[in-house]
Amino acid sequence: MSIKKVVLAYSGGLDTSVIVKWLIDNYGCEVITYTADLGQNEDLEPIKEKALKVGATKAYVEDVRKEFLEDYVMGAFRFGALYENKYPLATALGRPLITKKMIDIAIKEGADAIAHGSTGKGNDQVRFDVSAVALKPDIKVIAPVRDWELKSRDEEIEYAKKHNIDIPITKEKPYSIDRNIWGLSVEAGPLEDAYFEPTKDVYSFTVDPQDAPDEPEYVEIEFEKAKPVALNGKKMDIVEIVEKANEIAGKHGVGRIDVVENRLVGIKSREIYEAPGATLLLEAKRSLDELILDRETLHLKDHLAIKYAELVYYGYWFHDAREALDAFGKKLMEKATGTVKVKLYKGNATVVARKSPYSLYNRQLATYDPSDTFNHKFGEAFCYIWGLPLKVAAAVKDENR
Ligand code: ARG
Repeated sequence: MSIKKVVLAYSGGLDTSVIVKWLIDNYGCEVITYTADLGQNEDLEPIKEKALKVGATKAYVEDVRKEFLEDYVMGAFRFGALYENKYPLATALGRPLITKKMIDIAIKEGADAIAHGSTGKGNDQVRFDVSAVALKPDIKVIAPVRDWELKSRDEEIEYAKKHNIDIPITKEKPYSIDRNIWGLSVEAGPLEDAYFEPTKDVYSFTVDPQDAPDEPEYVEIEFEKAKPVALNGKKMDIVEIVEKANEIAGKHGVGRIDVVENRLVGIKSREIYEAPGATLLLEAKRSLDELILDRETLHLKDHLAIKYAELVYYGYWFHDAREALDAFGKKLMEKATGTVKVKLYKGNATVVARKSPYSLYNRQLATYDPSDTFNHKFGEAFCYIWGLPLKVAAAVKDENR
């Protein structure tokens, strides 16, 4: 395969630093790096310098947090989509955005390929590869970790030394960690034993619920068409809101998720997620849905949320089905405006109050006090008709006994 110029998704870590050099050696190509600020809480300027130092001809660094939250996270958020009922999809939602940005740069710079540092047995490779061809069918995607002979971290360090790649050897955690503003994913190392209880060092985004404050804290979240717009009465930008939500919920140990999940490639994998802000906001939004959506609509939304999460998890972000679902989600959330109060305490985010101008909750109908406006007499007729098919079926069974 002849490649002249490649855009590499660059994190600044060991893998992607070695990849820069490996690409140059194997393809004799020019390497341009791309690093997205998705809120991973890292200083990105040194990463840019590092990229140039290891041989990149150009290094792009870009803050995409707002775009990530508004155009990617919000799509899943409208549905309250969780993969296998648990995972708020932070990593999965980030990949298509990174890929889109890389493709834009590839077009601008006249590159013929993009490259990423994912392995051949994970989900992330699928998200990069599939998003790339969905946006530019003739682009080539290189994943050196799938191709090269380097089998371990030690061998990579060896390679780096041999090729004079200046990489700071930091003492790394034994885990593979991916973090952005919507959440953090941890896997590998001792976590590969599904019966191993995560030790304290696994977590870095949330306080251990046992060590969380002994006093509960209340948060009031305001939504407009499902989008969080204010926290504790203060209007804020979506980036600020999610950051603040992470801080408050993280302090109370909210959003730790421990799961064995079904990967796309057929392997079960043990994952730890930390998503304090996402957990808090999803809980609150869910209770708003309960208030403003009638039964059929709410159940339909829940149904489609499963599909939405699957499409995101499977790397099908740029699939027509996902786009169509997004249009549906926007329509569904036109009335998702209101305020929700959540109590945070020792790992729990519990909704305690909710209100909306579009609330379908009707106290006169619901009440058991004398102001009740519901006509109880109709209950009998309703039960007769609702139970009729069962009554008919039971009679048939009786006849055949
Ligand atoms: N299992 C999650 C997913 O597929 C997280 C993957 C995270 N990657 C990592 N390097 N830890 O979205």
